[in-house]
Amino acid sequence: MRATFALALLLAVAWADHHHHHGSHHSHHDDMMKCQKLSPPNADFAFSLYKNINSKTAAGKNIFLSPLGISTALSMLSTGARGDTHQQLFSTLGYSGMDQNTVNEAYNHLFHMLGHSQANQVLNVGNGLALRDNFAPLNSFTSDITKHYSADIFKVDFSKPQEAAAEINNFIANKTHDKIKDMVKDLDTSMAMVLINYVYFRGQWEKPFDGNHTSKAEFFVDENTKVEVDMMKRTGRYDFYQDMENHTSVIMLPYKGNTSMMIVLPEKGKMKVVEDMICKDHLRHWHDSLTRNSVDLFLPKFSVSGDVALDESLKELGMTDAFSDIADFSGISEEVKLKVSKSSHKAVLSVDETGTEAAAATTIEVMPMSMPERMILDRPFLSFILEHSTKSILFMGKISNPTEA
Ligand SMILES: *[C@@H]1O[C@H](CO)[C@@H](O)[C@H](O)[C@H]1NC(C)=O
Ligand SMILES: *[C@@H]1O[C@H](CO)[C@@H](O)[C@H](O)[C@H]1NC(C)=O
Ligand SMILES: *[C@@H]1O[C@H](CO)[C@@H](O)[C@H](O)[C@H]1NC(C)=O
Ligand SMILES: *[C@@H]1O[C@H](CO)[C@@H](O)[C@H](O)[C@H]1NC(C)=O
Repeated sequence: MRATFALALLLAVAWADHHHHHGSHHSHHDDMMKCQKLSPPNADFAFSLYKNINSKTAAGKNIFLSPLGISTALSMLSTGARGDTHQQLFSTLGYSGMDQNTVNEAYNHLFHMLGHSQANQVLNVGNGLALRDNFAPLNSFTSDITKHYSADIFKVDFSKPQEAAAEINNFIANKTHDKIKDMVKDLDTSMAMVLINYVYFRGQWEKPFDGNHTSKAEFFVDENTKVEVDMMKRTGRYDFYQDMENHTSVIMLPYKGNTSMMIVLPEKGKMKVVEDMICKDHLRHWHDSLTRNSVDLFLPKFSVSGDVALDESLKELGMTDAFSDIADFSGISEEVKLKVSKSSHKAVLSVDETGTEAAAATTIEVMPMSMPERMILDRPFLSFILEHSTKSILFMGKISNPTEA
């Protein structure tokens, strides 16, 4: 064995789309209290990461990621980190006031809640560990990640990088129902393990759009660029808030179950102002200010795919040691020196009227006799997929151009 092994962190592989179907529901008050501890630090981390990635993203490009997936994967990694490496991971994640056991337990409860709180939707958040076949990590590490992070552990032969990549890709494809098939392209033969997180969400609009009302319309990517989109239209009762002071309109589109999409539409030309200031307090403030209104909603159909190399962003947010030769992962192995060699993230989302099943279930609402508000998403907007029982940001992103996959 070589002295230093690499440890790749694939982080989240995510897919969100809008189709059928079932699940069971239970209420677990204690679980809720425990896992909601993670909610404020995870939201702060989500916005810090978003801002960092945004600063590296060209104008007019979409951004899409799973903050919950990334926090989960890094927390799983932190179970094996020690010393400054651990301290940096925890302070970047916003967990400095907690210890590893508290965080592990909170994730344990979070997975439990997510597994039990859905009806009419599929939400799978989970982890995997692809392990070099002649490398044995400490039992305490493997037992922590299987117990608290529900990680599936499997052996791969990294001396055959192509076969190893294929096995990891199969695992990811299986967990994302074939939506993401080629996450890993090249692997180093010196890899000791690859940590994997996936988030798979398939939701169904509580109030589906009628495809008959979808028509071609213009979307203004910026002052000089317009593209043609399939614009869905629905008039209905929605939770809506117009925040003049903060230059935004906000609407909540619920899925069946405990999940909603919050759409934040900055005034013309104010995207940058809103992005620069936005933090979890705005999200909460908007959430609490929403009122039920009649709204004429125009939302483009779109698919976005976010592929981010996170190394630089995570380093800039403070996790420098994990990627360097002074990394301390002695909680994973005392004999072999490990460092993180790479961390990448991929998330995919598609939004449409809602597939065939739901089209049959179009709801008719009684509208009061007042002029509806208008929310026309014909310019860049922000979108958040929120899970309410755990107060998690499953996904967030900026849709700058709905025609750019
Ligand atoms: C939402 O979550 C709560 C708390 O876990 C649960 O009691 C409820 O049944 C869930 N609702 C649906 C529709 O899944
Ligand atoms: C994933 O693999 C398991 C076990 O082989 C199988 O039962 C399941 O149907 C697969 N799921 C998908 C979505 O391919
Ligand atoms: C869309 O229009 C077709 C043809 O007019 C009609 O048969 C169908 O019921 C409409 N769909 C909905 C959801 O109203
Ligand atoms: C603008 O955002 C801030 C921070 O969330 C909030 O305190 C303020 O009330 C918002 N303004 C309006 C008009 O909602």
